[in-house]
Amino acid sequence: MAGSFPVFSSDCVHSVHGLQSLQRQRMRSETKHIQSNKVKWDKWAGLVDGNGWRREFLRDAQRKLISLLDVKENVHFLDVGCGTGWAVGEAAKLVDFKGQFFGIDLSPKMIKKAKVNFACRDNFYFIEANAESIPLRDDVCDIVICTHSFHHYLNPNRVLREMHRVLKKGGKLYIVDTTADNWIIQVADVIIRLAEPQHVRFYSTDEFRQMFANEKLKYEISQTIKRAHLHVTGISKVHLGEK
Ligand SMILES: C[S@@+](CC[C@H](N)C(=O)[O-])C[C@H]1O[C@@H](n2cnc3c(N)ncnc32)[C@H](O)[C@@H]1O
Repeated sequence: MAGSFPVFSSDCVHSVHGLQSLQRQRMRSETKHIQSNKVKWDKWAGLVDGNGWRREFLRDAQRKLISLLDVKENVHFLDVGCGTGWAVGEAAKLVDFKGQFFGIDLSPKMIKKAKVNFACRDNFYFIEANAESIPLRDDVCDIVICTHSFHHYLNPNRVLREMHRVLKKGGKLYIVDTTADNWIIQVADVIIRLAEPQHVRFYSTDEFRQMFANEKLKYEISQTIKRAHLHVTGISKVHLGEK
């Protein structure tokens, strides 16, 4: 075996092979994770614009986030994990549709529906893509949002790096997600992880703060999304960052 790598000792060759096989294993599990998310969210694509408590849970958070945004005309706006694009449309309404509005999502069916929903708008762009590799140039976005999608990302640090890359200097990042600041959410997180392979994990406010710092995003503030119909206080929070 060492013969094919004359410069390295046989120990070294073994570690190279070990590393390669680890990398292959990791790639296989990443591909599996992405595939299982696509299958799950493709099934959901027909439901998220309908009725029911899940839709209301998601819409309620999106509505509250939109009310916090400071969107200016000619904004470059991106929603990561945009689903069928509802929040993109609501943000655009704030500035009379003046700007460039982008949404990316892993699920082909979510993207197909978003395109149909906004077919009459030529400044809306919906793209099927993994949040770990956002198909936009550097420094283009004024605002990036991400609602109830972050806990599905296998490599959250890579996603934050991408969000940082596409933001302009001074651009704002708003991540809304269930936040594991109390034991109820921490227990729920473990149970959901066992039940749903697409669920990676919920993070606490301190973990968000640390992840933002690791990717050179200034962590500004977190705010609880208050919900009339849910009594677990602090279930979802907005985590606001700035490049
Ligand atoms: C619970 S839905 C939320 C959709 C929408 N943001 C909302 O608040 O209604 C989660 C979304 O994240 C998307 N998603 C999951 N993993 C993703 C990834 N790695 N990259 C991009 N989108 C992803 C799913 O396809 C799905 O549309």
